[in-house]
Amino acid sequence: MEALLIVGAGGFGRETAEAVGAVNDDKPTYELLGFLDDNPDAAGTEVDGVPVLGPISSVADHLDAKVIVSTGHPGFYFSRKRIVERLGLPPDRYATLIHPLASVGRSVEVGGGTVLLAGAVATAGVRIGSHVAVMPGAVFTHDDVIGDYATFGSGARLAGRVTVGDGAYIGSGALIRQSLTVGAWALVGLGAVVLEDVPAAEVWVGVPARRLRKVELPADLVVAP
Ligand SMILES: CC(C)(COP(=O)(O)OP(=O)(O)OC[C@H]1O[C@@H](n2cnc3c(N)ncnc32)[C@H](O)[C@@H]1OP(=O)(O)O)[C@@H](O)C(=O)NCCC(=O)NCCS
Repeated sequence: MEALLIVGAGGFGRETAEAVGAVNDDKPTYELLGFLDDNPDAAGTEVDGVPVLGPISSVADHLDAKVIVSTGHPGFYFSRKRIVERLGLPPDRYATLIHPLASVGRSVEVGGGTVLLAGAVATAGVRIGSHVAVMPGAVFTHDDVIGDYATFGSGARLAGRVTVGDGAYIGSGALIRQSLTVGAWALVGLGAVVLEDVPAAEVWVGVPARRLRKVELPADLVVAP
């Protein structure tokens, strides 16, 4: 059994903890030590029966534990990158968590710190980066390429050869046509049907998807063109 810490005791963190339980039911794999969370009111409490051990900095008290950063509210989906950079851990400290009810093809690559919840599907030749959050039922089809820190709401579906840039947020139930690119840190609203490339750091919504506004990026976030 490998010791594991989940950073962030919010909705996605709790879902990640449930996925850890499902993995363990299948095959005992992780000893979930608890959540780390910077909310001072959370320390010492339990969330869904899992203890909140203390602030994120207390990763330093658990040198042998693997880590998953499970934050990512749609209003602030930059947080995973910020936390990972703040922690400065080597890549091998991050666990990759795949719910036993996710379907991941043998030709699929999944990076460290990435979480695939139940019902997520990645078919053939898909490359999923590091610290990617994949909610239930999101579907990646052949040759999709997903950048680090991207987030997929439940039921988002990508046709083949789609590229999603680092940090992009694809809302629940969004559909993306084949061979398109969604730029880094772009946000695709829930239910959108994307029929053309989405530039970096823009919010697109609707059917067919149209530009709504720019993303207000934190000043310290570097966006590749
Ligand atoms: C796209 C999004 C970020 C926009 O949020 P916002 O900037 O606060 O925008 P508002 O709610 O003020 O809406 C602005 C306009 O866009 C429209 N709009 C917002 N989201 C929309 C969507 N998903 N589809 C179509 N239109 C949308 C609103 O109706 C409104 O139109 P109006 O100006 O004609 O009245 C948000 O609606 C969204 O879809 N978030 C993704 C949530 C998600 O998928 N969560 C899953 C995991 S938790």
